[in-house]
Amino acid sequence: MTGWRLDLGDLGLDRGAHLLLRRALAPLPPGARLAVHGRAPALALHLGAWCRAEGHRTESPESGLPTPPVAVVVRGDRDDSRWLGAVRAGAGTPGSVVAHPPARWGLAPRGALIEAGGPEPHFDLDDRDLLWADVAPRLYAYAAARQWDPATAVPWHDPIEVPAEVEAAVVQVMTYLVENEQAALIVPARFLGRIHPHFREVIQLLAVQVADEARHMEIFNRRALLRGTELGTSSAGGRASLFALVQESDFSLASFLLSVLGEGSFVNLLSFIERYAPDPITRKVAWLAMQDERRHVLFGVAHLAQQATVEPRLRDRLRGAVERRYDALRDTAGLNADVFDALVVLAAGGWDSDQIALGHDRVRQLERDMDDGRRRRLERLGFPADEAETLSALHTRNFM
Ligand SMILES: [Fe+2]
Ligand SMILES: [Fe+2]
Repeated sequence: MTGWRLDLGDLGLDRGAHLLLRRALAPLPPGARLAVHGRAPALALHLGAWCRAEGHRTESPESGLPTPPVAVVVRGDRDDSRWLGAVRAGAGTPGSVVAHPPARWGLAPRGALIEAGGPEPHFDLDDRDLLWADVAPRLYAYAAARQWDPATAVPWHDPIEVPAEVEAAVVQVMTYLVENEQAALIVPARFLGRIHPHFREVIQLLAVQVADEARHMEIFNRRALLRGTELGTSSAGGRASLFALVQESDFSLASFLLSVLGEGSFVNLLSFIERYAPDPITRKVAWLAMQDERRHVLFGVAHLAQQATVEPRLRDRLRGAVERRYDALRDTAGLNADVFDALVVLAAGGWDSDQIALGHDRVRQLERDMDDGRRRRLERLGFPADEAETLSALHTRNFM
């Protein structure tokens, strides 16, 4: 008999004694003998059953000992063989994502030791080059830290004195924003469940993006109904444009149309609304959404720029997506005319013909600013300047 010994005291296998048994057996070589002492009722019986289930053996103690153990456990080797075919689901750290995580890693946390067997769920978005951006973990942490409460972040109770016609313009713009935010929520939401969990930070980032859009819908809707009970108009052309966006089922193309072109243009639009807002509430809701949209654009550009370095044909595919959407929308009006007029009214600040002319000029300037931004981002993705100019011009007149 060797000197390995474990005293369980009053602890039985019905109350956690297996933890002490496993801990005592773990460092022992197969075949080693562990004398188990204890006073729990029926311990010998329970010990025999537990050992059979765990792949160990029990032996009766030698006779004639002054304080005999309840049983002697002979360590088996099944514990080692259980993990024989086990693999690590990559490394736990974000910098070490693999190019193609296998389906069998599916629902295990990245970096966990995976017992062989189990389901092999199919996540069709499982290509690092397609999804990953090195900035994703940092961007997620930043996004999580920047979440704001719609109830308190906006000065909802500030008195506002806005003439009825200007209020109607605000309501129309807010209506348009809610409509576009809905589409901006649906697009990432549809991809979330298709992404392999190995790319955890990308999933987290998109989940926060979805939550951002939910809050944008809320604050724009609340501003629209602050002084009335009716929203403005929704045009067929605007909805056709958004439908062409939510229909895109390719992650890269959808992300390009939504984030690089659409949300990028929206950053300019929200900045414009913030600047010409007739009241502090409108100003604040535009500013809050703009901060979030900047992040959305940043991730879209970052992962596509990274993808472009490994997929030479990516730019052809992106170009094709813009052209297809342009063709699909060729016969639609694009931006709701009521929205265009409402933006002019906001930027005019009054009804003199000079003021209206100025408002009109400012909206045209907004369109040029959007175009500049789109071309800059297209060039960041490697498009030459002339091609960036052509593609930016083909982007939907609905902005998103
Ligand atoms: Fe948004
Ligand atoms: Fe967004």
